[in-house]
Amino acid sequence: MSPRNFAFREIPSPDAGLLEVVIAGLNQEPKRLPCSLLYDEAGSRLFDAICDTDEYYITRTEVALLERHGPQIAEWIGPASVVVELGAGNLQKARLLLQHFPSPVTYVPVDISKEHLRQSALEFAEALNHVKVQAICADFHQADAIRSVLPLEGRRVLFFPGSTIGNLEPDEALQFLRQSQQILGNKGMVLVGVDLKKDASILNAAYNDAAGITALFETNILVRLKRELGAALDPQSFVYKGFYNEPLGRVEMYLVSLREQTVRIGPRQFPFKTGERIHLENSYKYSVSEFQALAAKAGLLPLDTWVDADRLFSLHLLECQAPR
Ligand code: TRP
Repeated sequence: MSPRNFAFREIPSPDAGLLEVVIAGLNQEPKRLPCSLLYDEAGSRLFDAICDTDEYYITRTEVALLERHGPQIAEWIGPASVVVELGAGNLQKARLLLQHFPSPVTYVPVDISKEHLRQSALEFAEALNHVKVQAICADFHQADAIRSVLPLEGRRVLFFPGSTIGNLEPDEALQFLRQSQQILGNKGMVLVGVDLKKDASILNAAYNDAAGITALFETNILVRLKRELGAALDPQSFVYKGFYNEPLGRVEMYLVSLREQTVRIGPRQFPFKTGERIHLENSYKYSVSEFQALAAKAGLLPLDTWVDADRLFSLHLLECQAPR
């Protein structure tokens, strides 16, 4: 039986189905696939495993910042808040944060990975029984739909950890921050984790763990295309490549075709040359001042910013500038 402080709902995506998205992406030049496709059930588990690798410093650094500054963040935010987390994953970070929040507090984790979310949210509700958990299975870009199911009372806080914001293009990130204020309304706040610019060797290692979990995570998208779309392709004929593009301030992630081949999905054919790439995602890195400038453009002003001693990662608490 579900605990009393737990609710789960699903907002169906109005977007095109998987087949249309994949065809549109592979028809582009250069070919690409949207990174949201990486997070099927297996992908979500692989991503959790990436977060535990030695090389991927992001998760443990952000976790340490949340542990250290959680009480202070709770104080800034105050009582009776509604914390909305977009792309919530395994909810581990929200647990650390919300343990410091006084009751009543509502937590709304949003994620596209349905069963993974259901299970994590249930565990969360059992562990933190002073928190009202209202999980939503949805693509986190559906701001309107998400807003319409939020409780009306309380200060709204958007929690966006893990440098997921870095997976958006800077102009999309700006858009996203602007839009997020529609969810937030008056006195809303944003708590966002942003990976900092740093030495290329640290970044290259973080996105190329020695155990090869990142590579498995990325090639899992091909396994998914085979399983869900019946695509004729050999996932082994592509290799993962991820590297820091320093001038552009981003890690770029690709699948590279090891040979000349044709990928077939139903009647469609997608020819690949040897070495031809499918672009999966970018992970933009920002300095503290670069990110603050972006947020200010979106109408969000810094209340507080926390950075670890090694200057690897930053946590920004921002406030909506004007009531909307
Ligand atoms: N937000 C994370 C990041 O950019 C997510 C991520 C996506 C990721 N793909 C990855 C992390 C591949 C490691 C490897 O870091």
